[in-house]
Amino acid sequence: MKIAIAGTGYVGLVTAVCLAEHKHSVTCVDIDEEKVSLMKAGISPIFEPGLEELMVRNKESIEFTTNYKEAYKDADVIFIGVGTPEKKDGSANLSYVYSVAIQIAESIEKDCVVVVKSTVPIGTNDKIEAIINKNLVSDVKVYVASNPEFLSQGTAVRDTLHASRIVIGVEEEIAGNTLMKVYQDFNAPIMVTNRRSAEMIKYASNDFLALKISFINEIANLCEIIDADIDDVARGMGYDSRIGSKFLNSGIGYGGSCFPKDTKALHWLASFYDYELKTIKATIEVNENQKIKLIKKSRKYFDGLNGLTIAVLGLTFKPGTDDLREAPSLVNIPIMIEGGANIKAWDPAGVNNFKKIYPSEVIYCETIEETIEDADICFIFTEWDEVKNFDINNYSKLMKHPIILDGRNCYDVNHTKNANIVYDSIGRATIKNYEFAIV
Ligand code: UGA
Repeated sequence: MKIAIAGTGYVGLVTAVCLAEHKHSVTCVDIDEEKVSLMKAGISPIFEPGLEELMVRNKESIEFTTNYKEAYKDADVIFIGVGTPEKKDGSANLSYVYSVAIQIAESIEKDCVVVVKSTVPIGTNDKIEAIINKNLVSDVKVYVASNPEFLSQGTAVRDTLHASRIVIGVEEEIAGNTLMKVYQDFNAPIMVTNRRSAEMIKYASNDFLALKISFINEIANLCEIIDADIDDVARGMGYDSRIGSKFLNSGIGYGGSCFPKDTKALHWLASFYDYELKTIKATIEVNENQKIKLIKKSRKYFDGLNGLTIAVLGLTFKPGTDDLREAPSLVNIPIMIEGGANIKAWDPAGVNNFKKIYPSEVIYCETIEETIEDADICFIFTEWDEVKNFDINNYSKLMKHPIILDGRNCYDVNHTKNANIVYDSIGRATIKNYEFAIV
C-alpha cells in the first residue's frame, strides 16, 4: 500500500520503518529540512535501538521529504504522528495535528484513510474529520480512523513489530478494512472499536500505568516509615496475576513525554466536562512530590546544599534513551544550583541534550568514577546498567563522604551492607555503615 506519514518523531518514524519492513511503500513528511536530510542519509534523528538498522535495510521502501503535497496527493493511507505537547493549563496542544489535517485536505487527489496515531483527547478524531472535510480542495472521500500507539522509548521498534495489541477505532467499515490490510502481516491481536473508545483506550492505558507507579511509590514511602521493604512487598503483590509484577518499581516518579502529559490531559478533559478524575489527580500529585524526594532525604545528612560537591548519576527520564522530557534531573538540578552546590554529572546518552539547557553550570564527566571522586553526596536519578553494575565498594574509595541517595533502587540492600557507605533508597531500610554527623 502507498502510505504517507506526517511527523518523524518516535511515533512517526518508528511506525514508518516498521510499515516498510512489512513491505509497504512509505513516505515520511517533516517540516524540519535538517532532519529530513539526516534521514535521507540513513541517519536516525532519534536515539532508538534497532531503528537505524531497519531504516537502512528498508531504504528502497522509505522516502523522506518536506513536500507534503507530493506525499499526500495519491496516498492510500496517511498517518498523523505529530506531537501533542502539554499546554500551560495541562490540556493537549493540538495545533500541529490540526495543521496537518489542513495540509492533507489541500493535497489529496483520491479517496484515502487518515489515521490518527498521535495521542489526542477524546473527540479529536471527529474534529480532524470536520477540518479535513471543510478544507477539501478535490472531490474525494476521506475516512478518519484512530489507531493509538503503545510503544515505549528504548524498545519502540520491538513494541511496534511485536505489538501487545493493535487498536483500530473507526466509524465506517471501509476504514476498518483498510487498516486491517495495513496490519495484515503484523503478528498481533487486532481489536476494532469506535473512534472515541480507541482514543480513550490510549489515555486509560497510560494513566493506569502512571497510577500504578504512583500507587507503588506511596506504598514505598509508607514502607520507609513502618520499616517494611518495598521490593518484597511489590514481589509479593506481583504473584497475583490480577495485579501483575510489571510497573511496580518504586522510585523518584515517572517522567518522559507521555505519562506526565497524558495524566494531565485526561484530568483536564474530565474537568472540562465538570467531572473530577480523583485517582488521576492523586497520581499527578504523588508524582510531583516523589520527584524531589531525594533532595528532601539529603537534609538528613547535610543542613543545606551550599558548597557541597554533588555527584549525579543519570540525567534521562529512564535508561535506553537520550530523552530528558520530564526527567527528575530537570527538577532537582536547578534546586541544587540555586542551593549553591557544585554538580558533577554522568549519563551515557543524555549529556548533549542536558548541555543545551545547562552549558556551564554542571561539570560533565566521562565515567562514574570521575563523577563520584571527592563528592560529598551522590544522587542516582536513572537506573542505567553501568550504575547497576558499578562496584559498590568504589563509592567509599572515591567519595569524600560516601552517601548514596538512590532514586531508582539500583542495588540490592543486602549487597550494600558490607560497604562502608550510607545507602538511602526508596521504600527500603537505610544502610548506615559510614560514621557521619550532620554537616
Ligand atoms: C509509555 C508507556 O509505557 C507506553 O506504553 C506508551 O506507548 C508510551 O508511554 C506513549 O504513550 O507513547 P515511555 O514514556 O517510553 O512509554 O516510558 P516507560 O517505560 O513507560 O516509563 C515511563 C516512566 O515511568 C519512566 O520515567 C520510568 O522510570 C517510570 N517507571 C516505569 C517507574 O517509575 N516505575 C516502573 O515500574 C515503570
